[in-house]
Amino acid sequence: MKITIYGSGYVGLVTGACLAQVGNHVLCVDVDPDKIRRLEQGDIPIYEPGLDKLVRDNAAAGRLRFTLDAAEGVKHGLFQFIAVGTPPDEDGSADLRHVLEVARTVGRHMDEYRVVINKSTVPVGTADRVRAALAEALAARGVTAEFDVVSNPEFLKEGAAIEDFMKPDRIVVGTDNPRTGELMRALYAPFNRSHERVVLMDVRSAELTKYAANALLATKISFMNELANLAERLGADIEAVRVGIGSDPRIGYHFIYPGCGYGGSCFPKDVKALERTARGSGYQAELLAAVESVNERQKQRLFEKLHAHFDGNLKGRSFALWGLAFKPNTDDMREAPSRTLMEALWDAGARVQAYDPVAMHECRRIYGERPDLALCDSPEDTLEGADALLIVTEWTHFRSPDFDLIKQKLAHPLILDGRNLYDPKLLQQLGFQYLAIGRGGNPRETVAASRAELRPTG
Ligand code: UDX
Repeated sequence: MKITIYGSGYVGLVTGACLAQVGNHVLCVDVDPDKIRRLEQGDIPIYEPGLDKLVRDNAAAGRLRFTLDAAEGVKHGLFQFIAVGTPPDEDGSADLRHVLEVARTVGRHMDEYRVVINKSTVPVGTADRVRAALAEALAARGVTAEFDVVSNPEFLKEGAAIEDFMKPDRIVVGTDNPRTGELMRALYAPFNRSHERVVLMDVRSAELTKYAANALLATKISFMNELANLAERLGADIEAVRVGIGSDPRIGYHFIYPGCGYGGSCFPKDVKALERTARGSGYQAELLAAVESVNERQKQRLFEKLHAHFDGNLKGRSFALWGLAFKPNTDDMREAPSRTLMEALWDAGARVQAYDPVAMHECRRIYGERPDLALCDSPEDTLEGADALLIVTEWTHFRSPDFDLIKQKLAHPLILDGRNLYDPKLLQQLGFQYLAIGRGGNPRETVAASRAELRPTG
């Protein structure tokens, strides 16, 4: 089958490479000449395990091509995927400018039937706007060719995107035309494995499904972070609580890890956008607003703990920071908790010595050269003369470090762990002061968790 994909960012590239891998002929269109030039040379602008090879192999086999020429893109594919960015605008709503521009482009060049598929995360009702923009561009040329607009949200996790695309749990397809539904089923047939993965529904439900999935996952995390903060005050261990509740299959173990907050390109943006959408429809989505504000607060937790530990005297101190990416196996630092922490430390006059296996160049791109940031070559190098070790990303090789070396290099044997990687008892035995998330009381912080408050009042 012939497929065109607009937008060679994260979603577009993964979609293009995976659809080519199962034998389709895919043409990726982007407006950025530099990106297209790099892609043509097999240079992948983003870090995603397995993507380089997939792109290079399929390009070599002639199934995956790149172009700046949108007219060629419209001619090429029966399936026209929109995978351009939808960055949040000032009030947190998704900015649809690029999506609608692609719709107009398709309308300006199409002469025969096309299926236009929205892969970008867009608010409910966007398919109608895409349809209208495309129809207007077609009408302006006096062309009467038919087209359908489909919502086909992606559920890719960064770091596991290829696996998620090739072996999907479900493929949500929203269309109001049964014939188009069958075309989409045929397109995705190679990904079915043991059973049919396509879940067909109406367009608006498909659009909402994407937000529902991300908002529920974000809710689970904020819920656990709220309980973790409470556990600290009550002297309980959230890790025990996590295992205790996760064993109930109705709750499950996934996405109940407490930490220093969720980041990334999806959760923060989608929770905000859904909340704004709700508000726009006249509904006050209180739970969504709380999920967002709990997360904002959680991203401050490590700094608060550090601030309390040093009685507010952070000026002139240096801190080792392990992890910059918002999660392991990606170089993405969008909305990363590391950023909130570093910026708070800089505001307080402290210095950061950071290490991340892949996100260093991204950090340099965002913050440039600055005297209060040293990007180190190894986790060990960050420790030199640092007042504490701060952990914000759970990269595998941070899980069993050489604690003797850490203790020897740090000016204070203090570890603040935003991902609960270590056993508090072991660290205590090794002579560390270990402050994690939700792991029992932190005497300096616990404001005598007022027993009176806890005493039943009735
Ligand atoms: C997410 C969704 O998982 C994916 O389906 C959707 O299409 C896009 O958004 P992604 O942003 O790549 O994917 O990352 P994910 O692995 O879901 O993690 C999101 C954030 O939540 C990370 O910062 C992670 O550290 C945090 N997290 C995750 C927790 O704090 N606790 C958890 O239990 C799980």
